[in-house]
Amino acid sequence: MKANRAQPIGSDGGRKRLVVANWKMHPGTCTDAKRLFLEIKRQAARRVRVETVVAAPSIYISELAKLAARSPIRLGAQNVFWEKEGAYTGEVSAAQLASVGVTHVIVGHSERRALGERDEQVARKVVAALKGKLVVVLCVGESERDATGGYLSVVESQLRIALAGVPKTALRQLSIAYEPVWAISAGDGRGKTATPGDVQEMTIFIRKILTSLYTRPSAERVPVLYGGSVNEDNAAGLMEESMIDGFLVGGASLKPHAFAAILTAANEK
Ligand code: PGA
Repeated sequence: MKANRAQPIGSDGGRKRLVVANWKMHPGTCTDAKRLFLEIKRQAARRVRVETVVAAPSIYISELAKLAARSPIRLGAQNVFWEKEGAYTGEVSAAQLASVGVTHVIVGHSERRALGERDEQVARKVVAALKGKLVVVLCVGESERDATGGYLSVVESQLRIALAGVPKTALRQLSIAYEPVWAISAGDGRGKTATPGDVQEMTIFIRKILTSLYTRPSAERVPVLYGGSVNEDNAAGLMEESMIDGFLVGGASLKPHAFAAILTAANEK
């Protein structure tokens, strides 16, 4: 199957809203995954201004791709390896993902960094995924907030290292997800959320770094998402007040009603 070439930029010339469901290691069976996917597909069809991506466990993707055919919903993976093929037990390449219908991939999620993934490895994955024509959702975010702004340096360094091998021409395939580690929920989407003010400050900061690495117009086109305890109660406020282009949603993406409300918030901004 040929991968769809997703366009992060809307036809109105503005950045398209992007909402990525990060299912993590859920649900427990392929049958449940298909049921949840069909619910999300139905809801996504009604929110046409939003590009909806479901980043499912890779074992389920082929089955979900059959359900996604001829619909605008996109399939994402939660990780990718930087080599194309070879003796790398347990790894999956960008080409392999694309061959089953994946268009987007989350790279550098803090839960993978917590398992030992380093910035340099994130950088190699970003380059491999972009070369494989996938849209990269690059996750950055500090573990804790300090009063002296050290958290800004953490995010700056993550961005600079991860993007070191990315040419300006590849930015159309890039989105940045700001996910402060302290705001990521234990799985129910109800942890300590960042305030719209926190998120706005970081969104501006991320665009400033992108501008310094590339040019202002190209930096402006990169969607910036927020992730970390996004739920049906806080999505509209975050969307309205923090200059983001969408969300990376963990726990709440497993609850169809909560996820529908988040899609609506992104669609209506
Ligand atoms: P959460 O997870 O929405 O459950 O906080 C977000 C993420 O880890 O991507």
